[in-house]
Amino acid sequence: MLDNSDLILVAGATGGVGQLVVAKLLDNNLPVRALTRNKNKAKQMFEDRVNIVVGDLRYPDTLTSAIENVTHIICCTGTTAFPSQRWDFVNFFDAKNSPQIVEGEGVKNLILAATKNLKRFVFVSSSGVLRKDSLPFNILNIFGVLDAKLYGENALKNSGLPYTIIRPGRLIDGPYTSYDLNTLLRAKTDGKKAVVIGTGDTLNGETSRIDVANVCVECLNYELTINQGFDIINSGKRPEVIDWQQLFSQIS
Ligand SMILES: NC(=O)c1ccc[n+]([C@@H]2O[C@H](COP(=O)([O-])OP(=O)(O)OC[C@H]3O[C@@H](n4cnc5c(N)ncnc54)[C@H](OP(=O)(O)O)[C@@H]3O)[C@@H](O)[C@H]2O)c1
Repeated sequence: MLDNSDLILVAGATGGVGQLVVAKLLDNNLPVRALTRNKNKAKQMFEDRVNIVVGDLRYPDTLTSAIENVTHIICCTGTTAFPSQRWDFVNFFDAKNSPQIVEGEGVKNLILAATKNLKRFVFVSSSGVLRKDSLPFNILNIFGVLDAKLYGENALKNSGLPYTIIRPGRLIDGPYTSYDLNTLLRAKTDGKKAVVIGTGDTLNGETSRIDVANVCVECLNYELTINQGFDIINSGKRPEVIDWQQLFSQIS
């Protein structure tokens, strides 16, 4: 069970899922450290409510201070599946922040930096990692995003760290353009679809960023999610209260 003696590092804290993870942790009065490449952006989002550490997954030296005293890591970093400005192109053939560099090697750098007594490493992967040859995932993987996610998953499984791997479908809800923390805390999926959890990369559908953030935090309270990977989508009628125990009991 999480408590306020824990310190949770959120990598990708300024991203769509990451900011919602931070908001949810703060809503539960849990201590948060935000790993970011851009201190001003994080300060604008989270004010002084989180401990901000500047780091870049590509450079292991920048991760040392980030992991100090951390008990849990939630990694929601990412870049675009298809070439974009966010790949940080040097020239047409060479990008400095491609999926393989961030989601593959970068995630591995964070895993290697983590201390052996870490209580949990949660990794947001993707639907399709085990179906890279079938539509639509073969198209999504043209530039290797699913190969990179699988590389990250395997690095985590082989690390010996207690892990949880989450595979959402195409993300909906956000990213939020409002950097106002109070707006993020009010973000709700009320009236939207239920949470469906599966195993073996078999589910098809969309997933709310809000529910990805919810599951990243909720799973830390359930031992049965340790060393497990699962799929999450939204489908069906949403119940008033989500029964995480019941959902997680389907995965082990
Ligand atoms: N989009 C989808 O449909 C989809 C589907 C399945 C899974 N996912 C996965 O879901 C997760 C969340 O997606 P999202 O769209 O909410 O994320 P996002 O808004 O794209 O945010 C990505 C975050 O990663 C950070 N980042 C990028 N490169 C980095 C580096 N080299 N070092 C440190 N941080 C770095 C970014 O920081 P900066 O602000 O510094 O750029 C940003 O905070 C990602 O892992 C994504 O791959 C997405």
